[in-house]
Parts: sequence; structure tokens; C-alpha cells
Amino acid sequence: MRHLISPLDLSVEETEEILLLAEDIAKDPTRYSQVCKGKKIATLFYEPSTRTRLSFESAMLNLGGNVLGFSSADSSSAAKGESVADTIRVVSCYADIAAIRHPKEGAPYVASLHSSIPIINAGDGGHQHPTQTLTDLLTIHALKGSISNLTIGLCGDLKFGRTVHSLINALVRYPGIRFALISPEELKLPTYIKTDVLEAKNVPYIEAEVLEDVMPELDILYMTRVQKERFFNEEDYIRLKDRYILDKVKMSYAKEDMLVLHPLPRVNEISVEVDDDPRAVYFKQAQFGVYARMALIMKLLGLSL
Ligand code: CP
Repeated sequence: MRHLISPLDLSVEETEEILLLAEDIAKDPTRYSQVCKGKKIATLFYEPSTRTRLSFESAMLNLGGNVLGFSSADSSSAAKGESVADTIRVVSCYADIAAIRHPKEGAPYVASLHSSIPIINAGDGGHQHPTQTLTDLLTIHALKGSISNLTIGLCGDLKFGRTVHSLINALVRYPGIRFALISPEELKLPTYIKTDVLEAKNVPYIEAEVLEDVMPELDILYMTRVQKERFFNEEDYIRLKDRYILDKVKMSYAKEDMLVLHPLPRVNEISVEVDDDPRAVYFKQAQFGVYARMALIMKLLGLSL
């Protein structure tokens, strides 16, 4: 039985297999409409979500399966004090696979230790978000044709942004990847990721505070929201939240084929005037999230067309 807790739980070859399957699904999703007939996914969300929960549910429904679950801790027996370990033991009796989002880092891993069904980490605190990473890789692979030899700008909240942490872990396994880490001092990428991941693998990176300074070099700009829910005091959040706002003027510094990705939700960090720019692909990215999750569910359940 396989779980997906970190993007590194999949080898580069397995990730490629999932991306190719997702691209095939994208060409004609109806061909896959019976693959999960009789299967159920449980979506156990202890934290708010729109895309991740609904795209998992959409993915399973597209595959002919069914969905069950809860969308907040308050509406589950966690509100009565039930542990994640006990919850997953029970849910293992009701579903074939489960996606878990939790505010505490490591909670999906704990669930995997007590589960008899595959567990997918749907985001744990400020730690990892591996299915967002599959979505991001699929977006890059499908629209750029390859995940190699790219300069990738990661902009915004690099400290608390779990999508950034997962994406870096995944991207350093591809050749010719370079990073520009664009953030205010207070929201810099944690040192352990710089030393244990980037420096350990000799991946070139620079740190910058001004987006325009690095914009002309970028092949991909990955914008992120300042993670309000992870701040200890509101004053700091208010001071930092509008530090980067991507607008048409800033886009004028970018390459003609640079892609703008964002895991969403967006708050203020991308002006709506950018949405019509053909380089802005964040809504396409959300659509790719369904295909990536369809392919992942098939992989973890050992199913094929
Ligand atoms: N990208 C992402 O995780 O969005 P949600 O929080 O809406 O699931």
C-alpha cells in the first residue's frame, strides 16, 4: 500500500508516469469515467479548502467513484476530542482512499501509520502540499513541454507557504533548475530548506526583495499568498500582506513566454488586470489539479484504463 505524504514519496519516474497519465486524461476525461466504479474517497479536511477538497471530489466522481467526508474539524468528531489515529482507523472501514488536510505538520503522516487505506496529504500546516506540487509540475510540463532548464521565481510567503516547500523538494530532482527566492526578510525560505535541499544538491539560487530586479530572468513566476492563518500577530500580517502585487507594469519586465502560476486562493498579490494576460495560467493550473488528482488516485489504487 502506498501513501503520498511528501512529493519525494514518488520517484521522478513515478511522477513522470502520473504527469503523462494526467495529460492523457486531460485529452478526453470521459474515457476514464468508469475506472473507479465502486470505489470511494474520503476527504477529511480539518482546515478550509476550496480547490484541493473539491478537485479531489471532482476527480473521484470523474473516475466513476463516490465521495464522503467532512470539510471542517467542527463538523467531525475531532470537535469531541477524537484523535487523527482513531478517525483514520474508522474511515478505513468506509472508504478505499483518503485525502487529509490538517493544520498540524505531520498529521497525515500519523494517519498513514494507522491506516489500512492509502493516505494522501492534502496540506499539513506550513509543511508540505504534495498534490499541489503534482498540479504545479503538470502545469509546467504541459505548457512548457519539459520541467528542465528553467529559472523559477518563487515570490511572497516563502516561510509559511507549504506549496513552495513541496515544489522546491520536487523541482531539485530535475536538471538545470535555478531559483530566485523573492520575499521580505521576515518571510524568507526556512534555512533548513536552503541548506538541506538547495545547497545539498548544488542547486543555484539567489534571494531578492524586489520582484522587478529578477523578473527578466524568469521562465516561471510562482506567486504565493501571505499565509494569514500561520501568523502569530495580526500587525505583522497587515504590514507584509501587500508587499508584492503583480500588475501589468511588473509583467512588462517579464519574458514573453514566462508563465505566472499561483496555487490560489489569491488575495491581493496578483492584480485582476493580469488575469487576461496569456502568461497568467493560474486558473488553467486549477483545472490541471483535477487531472493530476485523477491520475494520482488511479496510481495509488493500482488501477488503469
Ligand atoms: N491551492 C490550495 O490548496 O487551495 P485550497 O486551500 O482552496 O485547497
